[in-house]
Amino acid sequence: MTKLVLYLSCWLLCTLNLNADANELFAKADTAAGKALHEKNCISCHASSYGGDGSGIYTREYAKVKTSKGLIAQVRNCNTMIGLKWFEEEELNVAAYLNKIYYKFDQ
Ligand code: HEC
Repeated sequence: MTKLVLYLSCWLLCTLNLNADANELFAKADTAAGKALHEKNCISCHASSYGGDGSGIYTREYAKVKTSKGLIAQVRNCNTMIGLKWFEEEELNVAAYLNKIYYKFDQ
């Protein structure tokens, strides 16, 4: 019985989490901090392949990222690739900043 209750509450939490919208995900994010982190660490590489300020990578027609969760995952991928070892909070700040300026997901 206890196991069943545990299982059900876990399932419920996971479901709620999956349905979290972008506003919820980014509610505590600091987009100003995200902007600064992004400028320092992320622009040069994207700019070398997309030109300008590199933002073309976010606005390209076949953008890889389709949801706010996907955005967070991609920020993590790039972050891991370059070995920045950011905290989750920093990843969220940058994802929230990119969402505010470019992606504008509400899911
Ligand atoms: C060493 C080069 C490099 C650096 C540095 C880099 N990226 Fe990327 N990024 C890429 C490449 C290459 C892609 C395209 C990947 C693909 O198409 O599969 C990409 C794609 C992305 C995308 C998805 C764009 C889309 O299609 O919607 C996001 C978001 C992103 N990067 C965020 C970041 C963030 C945030 C940082 C800073 C932590 C960062 N990147 C640093 C190379 C880099």
